[in-house]
Amino acid sequence: MAERMRVLYAIVTGASGAETVGELVALAQADGWEVCVVPSPNGTRFIDTEALAAQTGYPVRSTFKEPGTEDLLPPPDAVVVAPLTTNTLAKWAAGIGDTLPLALLVETTGAGLPVVAVPHARAAQLKFPAVVTALSNLAEWGVRFVHISEGDAVPWMTALKALDQ
Ligand SMILES: Cc1cc2nc3c(=O)[nH]c(=O)nc-3n(C[C@H](O)[C@H](O)[C@H](O)COP(=O)(O)O)c2cc1C
Repeated sequence: MAERMRVLYAIVTGASGAETVGELVALAQADGWEVCVVPSPNGTRFIDTEALAAQTGYPVRSTFKEPGTEDLLPPPDAVVVAPLTTNTLAKWAAGIGDTLPLALLVETTGAGLPVVAVPHARAAQLKFPAVVTALSNLAEWGVRFVHISEGDAVPWMTALKALDQ
């Protein structure tokens, strides 16, 4: 029987840098991953969903499936969430799952899967106390953070490599 390939969920949220997620798809595919891109509803405004569906071979889902219908994506083995807004970051740490990416982040973190996150926000947003607490809690709960400075591009290769650490 053919071995099942590892599945990476590339979650993108509504921040600059999301438009380059195709670079992560290419890097991960070259590293032997099947990749599914899962944007937040706001994240869809930053990306070319048709191009990413063609590149990955999977539909680019940003909303929950209809009840009673089949899952369209294979289950994940690992997650990279980048760029990560402070909105999704704070809600994730609070266990809120009111978007598809949030529900997946809560579930995969709870399951102990490897999850790498690259917060992308202004320095002042990242200093907001609830955001500071969310970062600290999620790190304690096993999330691997790749921190960048305001204005930096998303370091896709570093994020991918952090899955192996
Ligand atoms: C052009 C643009 C760039 C944005 N960049 C960021 C960002 O870098 N970080 C951030 O936290 N929010 C950013 N936002 C705001 C988020 O899109 C907004 O908070 C949204 O509610 C996030 O929803 P999501 O977390 O479900 O994707 C940006 C908005 C726009 C229109």
